[in-house]
Amino acid sequence: MGKPKVQVTREVFDEVLDYLGQHFEVFPNQEDRPLAPEALAAALADKQGALTVLTDKIDEALLSRCPQLRAVCNIAVGYNNFDLKAMSARGVLGTNTPGVLDAATADFTWALILATARRLTEAEAWLRAGAWHGWKLKQFLGMDVQGATLGIIGMGRIGQAVAKRARGFDMPVLYFNRTRLSPELERECNGRHVSLDELLAQSDIVTLHTPYSADSHHLLGAAQFARMKKSAILIHAARGGVVDDAALIAALVNGTIAAAGMDVYEGEPKFNPDFLKLKNVVLAPHIASATTNTRRNMAMLAARNLVAALTGERPSNLLNPDALT
Ligand code: DGY
Repeated sequence: MGKPKVQVTREVFDEVLDYLGQHFEVFPNQEDRPLAPEALAAALADKQGALTVLTDKIDEALLSRCPQLRAVCNIAVGYNNFDLKAMSARGVLGTNTPGVLDAATADFTWALILATARRLTEAEAWLRAGAWHGWKLKQFLGMDVQGATLGIIGMGRIGQAVAKRARGFDMPVLYFNRTRLSPELERECNGRHVSLDELLAQSDIVTLHTPYSADSHHLLGAAQFARMKKSAILIHAARGGVVDDAALIAALVNGTIAAAGMDVYEGEPKFNPDFLKLKNVVLAPHIASATTNTRRNMAMLAARNLVAALTGERPSNLLNPDALT
C-alpha cells in the first residue's frame, strides 16, 4: 500500500513540505494559486488529508465529493471555514492551530491601537503626498492611550495577551466573555468582567477577540456603536462578520465613534470600498499573525496535526472528537 496522499492547498514553508514528505505523498501548491470550491473539491477527491487555510471551505458539498478524506488541518486558529458537523458525520477530523499565534496577534492589535489613536497612517499618507510644510502645534492631534480604558470583547488566549500588554500603558481593563476568568487570571490581566453594554459605554478603546460563528455574527452593529463614546476607537482583528462593516462605516462617517483599526472584513478579500474613503480608519490586510516565526509555527503545528490524524494518533488540536466515534 502506498503512502497516504495529502493536498497542501496554499504555499507553505519548505520545511513543512519536507516534514509531510516523510509520511505522505504530498501534493503542494507552491505557486499559491487560490483554489476555488470546484478546484478544491477536484484536488481533494483522491486525498486522505489536507492542510488548509481559512479561505478553503470544507462543507458537505465538498465532502460528498471526497470520499477518502480523513483529516483536514487548518493553518489558522479560526475554523469558521469548516462545517464541523458535516465533517464529524463523515468521520473527517478537523484541527486548528491555537496558542502559537497569540503573541503575534496581540502585538499587532497593539500596533492597530497605537496607529489608530495616533493617526499614524493618515499622517504618513499626508507626508508622502508632499503636504508637510512645517511643524504645527495642532497637527494630527490624536488620543492618549496611556490611562485610557481598554474594553476587550472575547477574553481567550489572545484577549488575555492583549490585556497583559496594557499594563505598560496603565490602562484599566474591562472584559466581556461568556465565562468569567479565574480570580488569578483576572489579576494577571488586571481585568474586570462586565456586561457588553457596560464595556461599550465605559471603554475608550474597544478591541474584539472573539471567533466568528452564528452567535457572534454582527455582534457589533449600529445599536452597539450608539452605546460607545463618541471619542472611542474600535479595533477589529478577530474575524470578518463579527462586526457589521456597513454599520461601522456609517458610525465613522456620522461621528458616532471616532476611529477604527481594522485587520479583518466581511467577505474578505473583498471589503466594503467605503472604508477607503475614510481618513479615520487604519486598514490592514488580515496580517495580525504574520510574523515569520508565527506563520512557520502555525504551518508546522497544522502539519503535525495532519501526521497524527493519519497515523492513528489523536491530533493535539482536534476540534471534533465525535468524528472518532
Ligand atoms: C487565524 O489563525 O484564524 C488567523 O485569522 C489567520 O492568521
